[in-house]
Amino acid sequence: MTSTPVLVATRDELDAVLGPRRRSGHPVAVVTTMGALHEGHASLFREARHRVGEGVVVATVFVNPLQFGAGEDLDRYPRTLESDVAMCAREGVDVVFAPTVGEMYPDGEPVVTVEPGPLGAELEGASRPGHFRGVLTVVAKLFGVVRPDVAVFGQKDYQQLVLVTRMSRDLDLRVEVVGAETVREPDGLALSSRNRYLGEAERGRAATLSRALRAAQDRAAYGLPAARWAAMRVLDEVPESELELDYLAIRTPELAEVLEEHPVDPVPARILVAARVGSTRLIDNLPLTLGSTTPAAASSASRAR
Ligand code: PAJ
Repeated sequence: MTSTPVLVATRDELDAVLGPRRRSGHPVAVVTTMGALHEGHASLFREARHRVGEGVVVATVFVNPLQFGAGEDLDRYPRTLESDVAMCAREGVDVVFAPTVGEMYPDGEPVVTVEPGPLGAELEGASRPGHFRGVLTVVAKLFGVVRPDVAVFGQKDYQQLVLVTRMSRDLDLRVEVVGAETVREPDGLALSSRNRYLGEAERGRAATLSRALRAAQDRAAYGLPAARWAAMRVLDEVPESELELDYLAIRTPELAEVLEEHPVDPVPARILVAARVGSTRLIDNLPLTLGSTTPAAASSASRAR
């Protein structure tokens, strides 16, 4: 479906477009983005459409200064609104909300912000202090402005998905948060707006991350240490100077730390990795099923892959 979405930049314009649709009972889905849209974002628009049917799909495009730390890529983050709107048109998005910084933060930096709790300081939060406070604050604001019934987020940013889900529940925002699968390049590299920073050699190395996660998946039936070791073996193929590991973590699906190393019954888990390739920081993650009932089941599970 190709129909030009309505492009709006202010709350008032957005209300004028959404008001009548909302009053006639149409559900609203939102996909929040920072633009530089790619196939990963497109898959979220399709999921949003699937969730609301004849309802309204809103895409927000806003590079949120509050979630960037000093020395991060706020200034060079790609801004490609024209091609973003074209992608939204191809994917049947009804409304694109692309506010200015002044529209979102009319009083400058907000005084009241959303505190992400302990998880906000771990994993991504350990390397990027204040990042999730910035993310949750802007997502809460965008939920307030759009007032969606459903919001679709990518599993690509898994910790973000977990925290937004938790925020919606803990603060009774009444938004159903849906997680959509990560879209990847043929070699496994997760699509990201930041991949365009990678030089040719770096691009080759970047696929190591997803290869490591898949190796862990293949060994997960043998327990947590085996899965971790399998991932590390792949990461170690690339010299530290070319791929600088930040963390490799195996946690519960809610990102709690406590996990039995050798569970008797299979337990769901998540493996997450972050590394710097050149000057570009990349993240990826996959689901794991740790342990199995018998060693025989473990080896046939790993052969079947
Ligand atoms: P951005 O990086 O633009 O991502 C917007 C949404 O697209 C997020 O939910 C992200 O997880 C999802 N996404 C990115 N790459 C994906 C891929 N390869 N497959 C599937 N989904 C993918 O995440 C942000 O923006 C910001 O933090 C935001 C939530 C907009 C708040 O500013």
